[in-house]
Amino acid sequence: MKTMKRKNNIVLIGFMGVGKGTIARALYKETGLFPLDSDDLIESAYNLKIKEIFAKHGEDEFRKIEKKLAKFIEKNVDNAIISTGGGFYKVPNLKKLGTIIYLKSDFEGIINRIKNSPNATKKLAKRPLLKDLNEAKKLFDKREDEYEKVADLIVDVSGRSPKMVAIKIKELIKDKI
Ligand code: S3P
Repeated sequence: MKTMKRKNNIVLIGFMGVGKGTIARALYKETGLFPLDSDDLIESAYNLKIKEIFAKHGEDEFRKIEKKLAKFIEKNVDNAIISTGGGFYKVPNLKKLGTIIYLKSDFEGIINRIKNSPNATKKLAKRPLLKDLNEAKKLFDKREDEYEKVADLIVDVSGRSPKMVAIKIKELIKDKI
């Protein structure tokens, strides 16, 4: 039987607000690989913001779209940096998409990062699952181990600039890209 070769993408996973998109852009500077973002791709395909998809169609439908996108990436995308929504790591074919890198931070670090950013209000408003911080913390606790389990590499982002994280990732994957 023909087995699908693992892709050469760099797939960034991790909790909402950890900086996946920012780090993807820093990685672009370091590697020249273009960054694609799962939420951005979904928003452009549906011409709706993520929070509108949640409100109009519900979270279950959003998760189905994520799975559909993951199949598309498996079939069509290679040599890219893919930053993903915080729940994307659950797609069944994740491991086939590339090298999975978990960007790790504690919950406080994530919340501080969002609160200290110049567009904090926007960042909070666009994420339906961050509306209630107690619920978000529960989700974080539940997901932490799961992120670690599916990851090929774990990179702690605490106290590191996006550029420092990108350089670290480049070092770790130099034989893979
Ligand atoms: C989600 C994270 C969001 C977005 C959606 C659901 C999650 O992406 O996909 O709101 O389940 O953690 P970010 O991680 O970019 O905020």
